[in-house]
Amino acid sequence: MLKLSICFGSACHLRGAYSVLNAFKALIDKYQVQSEIDIEGNFCQGQCTEGVVIKLNDEIIHNVAKEKVHDIFVEKVLGGKPH
Ligand code: FES
Repeated sequence: MLKLSICFGSACHLRGAYSVLNAFKALIDKYQVQSEIDIEGNFCQGQCTEGVVIKLNDEIIHNVAKEKVHDIFVEKVLGGKPH
């Protein structure tokens, strides 16, 4: 099970954390991988200038915008191959 944490601190919120969440949710529905990924919200990760900050298992990814979610999802969740 992959664990996705999204920062919902105020800086990341302003930078579009909810759009990032919704983009992930839409892809999870589209690819029917609800059982493979768990999403949770996080408080400020102390890296506000590089938000939106997300964490996939132990890997921190900075500067995530909703436009980048698809690429991250394909690489990290689908293992590089959209099916
Ligand atoms: S608000 Fe997200 S890192 Fe600070």
